[in-house]
Amino acid sequence: SAAEKGGYDSFMEKEINEQPKAVEDTLLGRTDAEGRLTLDELRIDPEELKKTSKIIVLACGTAAYAGLVAKYAIEHWTRIPVEVELAHEFRYRDPIIDESTLVVSISQSGETMDTLMAVRYAKEQGARTLSICNTNGSTIPRESDAVLYLHAGPEIAVASTKAFLAMIAASYLLGLYLAQLRGQLFQEEIKDILADLHKIPGAIQEILDGAESIKALARSMKDTPSVLFLGRHVGYPVALEGALKLKELAYIHAEGFAAGELKHGPIALIEQDQPVFVVVPSPHGRNSLHSKVVSNIQEVRARGAKTITVAEAGDQSVGEFSETVFYVPSTAPLLMPLLTTVPLQIFACALAAEKGYDVDQPRNLAKSVTVE
Ligand code: AGP
Repeated sequence: SAAEKGGYDSFMEKEINEQPKAVEDTLLGRTDAEGRLTLDELRIDPEELKKTSKIIVLACGTAAYAGLVAKYAIEHWTRIPVEVELAHEFRYRDPIIDESTLVVSISQSGETMDTLMAVRYAKEQGARTLSICNTNGSTIPRESDAVLYLHAGPEIAVASTKAFLAMIAASYLLGLYLAQLRGQLFQEEIKDILADLHKIPGAIQEILDGAESIKALARSMKDTPSVLFLGRHVGYPVALEGALKLKELAYIHAEGFAAGELKHGPIALIEQDQPVFVVVPSPHGRNSLHSKVVSNIQEVRARGAKTITVAEAGDQSVGEFSETVFYVPSTAPLLMPLLTTVPLQIFACALAAEKGYDVDQPRNLAKSVTVE
C-alpha cells in the first residue's frame, strides 16, 4: 500500500532514500567509549580470528559486488589476502581451505541457496565461517560460526539498494576490526577512518537531495538501447552494480567494465552517442589512477560516446569531457563506493519508472533465490 511505501512511488525509491539511516544503523553501537571497535556479537574467539591467513568472500549478484569492494579495503588495512568468489562457482573448483581460512559470506536475505551451499561446503572443509547478513535469524547466519548483522531494516524491492551500502559498511567494520586485533593499523588511524565512515550518511543525504537532475537525465534516456559503465579500483564494482541495476530494472543491455580493460576490447563497442557512465576515482587517491580514468573519458568521447561522469565534488578535471557530471561529496578514496553508487541507483530506478515498469518486482526475478 501507499502507506507502506512511506509516500514514495515504490519500495525501491523508499529504500534508496533510507540509505543514510541504513548505513548509520550498520555503524551504530560498534565502538566503545575509547573508540575501539567492539564486534562482540561475532561470537568467535578473537585469538582464533587473529590467526586468519586468508579470507574468501562468497556471495551472489549485488552482494558479490559488495564483496569486491570489501577486498580493496580489507587487504589494504589488514594485509590478509582476500579472494572474492561467486558462491555458485566456489565449490566446483576444489578451493584451497584450512582452519586458518575465514570464509565471509555476504547476503541480504540469508536464504540464497547458492551462498548457503557454498558456506556449508567451506565448513565441511574446515574453514571458519562468518556471515554478513541483513535478515536476523535466517539460515546462513544460523549455520555460520559468526555473524555481523547489517541492521539496515527490511528490504522489500527485488533490486538491492540499501543492503548493498550496508554490506560495504559492515565489511569495512570487519576489516578495521581485524586490523585492530592484529595491530595492523594504529588506533588513531582506525579512529580517523571510523570518523570518515560516520560522515557518510550525511553525504548520502546530500546526493539524495540533488536527485532531480539524475532523474531528469534518466527520463531523457528512456529509449537508449545500451549503456556502458566504467570504473577502476573500488569504482570498478560500482560500475558493475550500476550496470546490474539497469539490466534488472529497465531491461536495458548494460555492461560494467574495469576502465583499464577498455583498450583490451570494449572500446570497440563505442560508437556515436553510446552512453558511457564513468565512475571517477578520487583526485586525492593514487593520482595516476585519477588521471588514467580522465584519459579513458577522453578516449571514449573522442569516439563519439556520450559521457556521464560521477566525480568527487571539487574535481575540476572532468567537466570539459562530460556531457553531464554528477558530483558526490568528498570522502576518503576507499569509502567512495558508499556515495558513487547512489546516483546509479537513482538513475536505474527513474529510467525504469519512466518506461512504465514495476521497479519493485522486475520480470523473471525473485527477491531471494532459494533454489540452486
Ligand atoms: C540485486 O539487485 C539482486 N536482485 C541480486 O543480485 C541479489 O543481490 C542476489 O540474489 C543475492 O541476494 P542475497 O543478498 O539475498 O544473498
